[in-house]
Amino acid sequence: MTVTVLIGAQWGDEGKGKLVDMLAERADLVVRYQGGNNAGHTIVREGETFAFHLIPSGVLHAGTICALGNGVVIDPQVLRREVDGLHERGIDFEGRLRISPQAHLIMPYHVALDEAREIAAIASERTGHAGAPAGVQSKDSAAIGTTRRGIGPCYADKTARRGVRVEDIFNEELLRDRITAALSETNVLLEHYGHEGFSVGAVLDQVRAHADFFRPFIADIGVLIERVRERGGEVLLEGAQGTLLDIDHGTYPYVTSSSPVAGGAATGTGIGPTRIERVIGVAKVYATRVGAGPFPTELFDSVGDQLVERGGEFGTTTGRRRRCGWIDFMALRRAAQVNGLTELAVTKLDVLSGFEQVGFCDSYELDGEAITEWPPLTGDLQRCVPVVEMLPGWLKDVASARSLDELPEEARSFLRLIEERVGVPVTFVGTGQDRTAVIDLGAGIA
Ligand code: GDP
Ligand code: IMO
Ligand code: MG
Repeated sequence: MTVTVLIGAQWGDEGKGKLVDMLAERADLVVRYQGGNNAGHTIVREGETFAFHLIPSGVLHAGTICALGNGVVIDPQVLRREVDGLHERGIDFEGRLRISPQAHLIMPYHVALDEAREIAAIASERTGHAGAPAGVQSKDSAAIGTTRRGIGPCYADKTARRGVRVEDIFNEELLRDRITAALSETNVLLEHYGHEGFSVGAVLDQVRAHADFFRPFIADIGVLIERVRERGGEVLLEGAQGTLLDIDHGTYPYVTSSSPVAGGAATGTGIGPTRIERVIGVAKVYATRVGAGPFPTELFDSVGDQLVERGGEFGTTTGRRRRCGWIDFMALRRAAQVNGLTELAVTKLDVLSGFEQVGFCDSYELDGEAITEWPPLTGDLQRCVPVVEMLPGWLKDVASARSLDELPEEARSFLRLIEERVGVPVTFVGTGQDRTAVIDLGAGIA
């Protein structure tokens, strides 16, 4: 009887999907609690690849119920496409899907606005027009580099209390009012960006058409979690994105618009924080980031290129090349603190095989002073210079290793260093893409 939250401890794409799939073998319920189809969670099973954007990554286990909590933003078309795609691959899970009526819907105008803003920001960068958000230095990009899935505008409408929730599609009058109110402002913005506005009638028809699809899945997700707990079941709360993309605790404004941190799992599902017993942070053995924003240990040389190539570092959702760098203990200690991590799952150890030396960062230099804690002022991060140290690497392929003993001593030392410097037990180590490519360390290394 455990409620576990699994979160990204870096900038997303840490390998959360694979870990959730692995842990879901014993889970009765897997719940997404925030984000939307900006997420791309990959699972590789016997050579077959699945990439989930909205459906929780526990879906491949026949007995597991999958739920979308109130904190998730749902693009109905994307959800339906994902459900249909799974059917086509022989995975029938409709009886196992639950959706919170309070989850917000991503509307076509959210997607259009997200895209229009990104295009305008990129154009302003090119022309040198002052379009950057206030407080951002000139070297920063005005564009966030969003996934253009409508995430930011949807959460903005939610917070501004003019969003459309799943439950609204069952009440035509209310739905019309909500869409009318939202479009009265959004169409002005779209026109400002040179985009045609949307008509209330057309959006209404489009959204209403999904009512019958949603109806059978409606459930109170907080109550569902409580029931599973009460009968001794296992619940997994699946984070999307990562700690440093969190709206509050990330590298603002280069963040997503939700709360991927462990605290978000309580508000995003409707349970109290006392229910959560285990918090697993997932981190790559190096670091990556997609889109704009600070990334202290980023490598701009051929080593960075090698990480991209060997790690297959291209986005699951947008196909964009991921920026790569060495593992950053400053960032991981920050993640351990913000999330209250009880465990760390380190992924992609196999990708570092073949490097003569492997790097890590344990401190930054800020205005000539060494710092070992995350700077309290977000803007200071831009001036931080990472202090990168190098250790001997290992040449042996570790893909088939299933225990610590099978790893070269250098790889073991590197994992021990991670555990020690982050201050959280490393309980899993990923050694390949396949769901079985993992070393289960139980209570940790030490
Ligand atoms: P997520 O968003 O956190 O679920 O991660 P993504 O699926 O976007 O990206 C992680 C990528 O790394 C995927 O292609 C995974 O299949 C892959 N992956 C996960 N764990 C490992 C691992 O231990 N080794 C290798 N080589 N690939 C891994
Ligand atoms: P998973 O769950 C990596 C990034 C985008 C952009 C910023 C804001 O697969 O780890 P958004 O579309 O959310 O408004 O974009 O956040 N981003 C991700 N980066 N993995 C993700 O999800 C991401 N979801 C959003 O690249 O920098
Ligand atoms: Mg991903």
